[in-house]
Order: sequence, then structure tokens, then C-alpha cells
Amino acid sequence: LRVISKAQELALTLDSERAIGRKIGLVPTMGALHLGHRSLIERAVSECDVVVVTVFVNPLQFGDASDLAAYPRDLGTDLVVSEEAGASIVFAPSIEEMYPSFPDPPCTTVHVAGLTDVLEGASRPGHFDGVATVVTKLFALAGRCRAYFGEKDFQQLAVVRRLAADLSLPVDVVGCPTIREPDGLALSSRNARLTPSERLASGVLHQAIEAGLDAVRAGERWPRIVNAAMAKILGGEPLVALDYAVAVDAETFETPHELAGNVRLLIAATVGEVRLIDNEGATAPGSQEPVLAGHGTNKTNKRES
Ligand code: PAF
Repeated sequence: LRVISKAQELALTLDSERAIGRKIGLVPTMGALHLGHRSLIERAVSECDVVVVTVFVNPLQFGDASDLAAYPRDLGTDLVVSEEAGASIVFAPSIEEMYPSFPDPPCTTVHVAGLTDVLEGASRPGHFDGVATVVTKLFALAGRCRAYFGEKDFQQLAVVRRLAADLSLPVDVVGCPTIREPDGLALSSRNARLTPSERLASGVLHQAIEAGLDAVRAGERWPRIVNAAMAKILGGEPLVALDYAVAVDAETFETPHELAGNVRLLIAATVGEVRLIDNEGATAPGSQEPVLAGHGTNKTNKRES
């Protein structure tokens, strides 16, 4: 495993790998790697010749300084996980390497309009501009590649696909299924910050998603009713403060008048100090459109206990 901290060294290394015909896989992360990240790296390793894991806690995407400070960091373990999963390179730059003007923001940032106005974008102003800016920089450094992102951050995945398409970046964006704990909690680096009682309570997010999916599968077409079914489950857990629980169109993230075609159920809630998100996809019954590959509920992704 080679560890690179300089941006130009990464770009030159990947240029030479491509020149001898190797396919590059990119797995952008903020470190604190868990089994969800590991599944992204393993997928990249199965499809590419040279896999780069990037480990960079991107200050631009944190609105709240205390959230940034509390974000878990453990490069030593990240290197072990990356190597075990088969990565060839870990790119771990300093903040100054990525943003020479830091703490002043860079003059150029990337904003994906529309998609970022709702849900996570509305609750965390500026968050997706930070994500879009750092991902665009990583794509620029990596060059032609396949880049792997988890569906756990479903809106982020849509934002990244949009920016790659709109800016004609030579990157195939690959969405990968969410990996879950046995009680359904989606794996996230933030889970490490939950107290034991909060961790127990957090299982309710997936129960709420399941309740919403059950309603859609049973033929419920009114978003309001599906949203209420999810909110009711979350409301039964006093340690969980709901931000949103919504059924939206899976492509536009808008609330349709009636649910039809590919639907995405998305939840955000705060448990103690920790903000958690989750989502699953469904096809509204009666619709002729199939669920997009990799977008359906996948119970086989549950982590073995
Ligand atoms: O999902 C993440 O870990 C981050 O948002 C990403 C894509 C690595 C950008 O910092």
C-alpha cells in the first residue's frame, strides 16, 4: 500500500498507471473506515486494476465547527482497512494541500443547483457545496476512473452523478448498496459517537423506513400517509428527534402529488448529538417502471452477526 499526501504526486502516479493500460478505481472517504467503506473498496478492487482510497475530512462540508472537530479520525486503522480490502494507494492530503487558502475558502467552489435545495441541502446549508467542491477536485486529480459511493448518502450520490455529467468529467459514478448492522442501522462513521442507549434507539430509523416501504408495497399512493407512517415509528422513540421522513421521487427528490415509479424513502434524525440519515428505494405498485439496478431494498446486505 502506497500512501500519498501530495496532490500532484497522486495525479502523476495515476497518469502513469493509465498509460500502461490500468483502470483506476477511486473511493472517496473521510476516513474512520468501516465495513460499508470496505465494501466500496472491495467492489472497486473487483472492477479496477489500481484502487485509490482518499482519506480527507473535508472542512468545507461541515457547517458546524464542533461537528468537524468531533468527526472521528484514525489514519492508522484506515491504512490497515484499505490494505486488507485490496487498495493500492491511500491519498491522505493535509487541509493546506487541498485548500492552500485555508482557513479562507477557495475562490472557486462547485454548486449543484436544484437537487441541493431540499432535504439534507435544506437542513445543512452549504454542505453539498463543500461535498461537490472536494469531489470535483478529487475527480480532477484522479482523471479518468470509476468512482464508488454508498447509497447510504443517496442525495450525495445524486449530486455527484449530476456534477460529473454537467462538468463532463471522465468519471463513471458507481452507487453501492448500504451495509447495515443486524438491527438494520446503516453503517456510518458517526455511529461510533452514539452512547449505548442512543445506539439501541437508533435501530428505529430502519424500522421507520420498513414501515414506509410496507405502506408503499401495500399500495399507498399518498406521500403524506407514507411519511406519517414513518414519523409515527420515529415518534415512539424519545431519544430520537426527527428532522424529516419523506417519500420522494427517486430522481428529482421532489414530493410527487401521488407516488409512482421509482420512489425513495429518506429519513434524517438526531440521536443525542449525532445526526443520522437512512434511505431505501421502492417501486410504487402498478407502475410499469422497474426499480433501478442497485436501488432496491437489499436485505442480503445485512452484516453477518
Ligand atoms: O461521503 C463522504 O464520506 C464525503 O461526503 C465525501 C464524498 C468523501 C466527500 O468529502
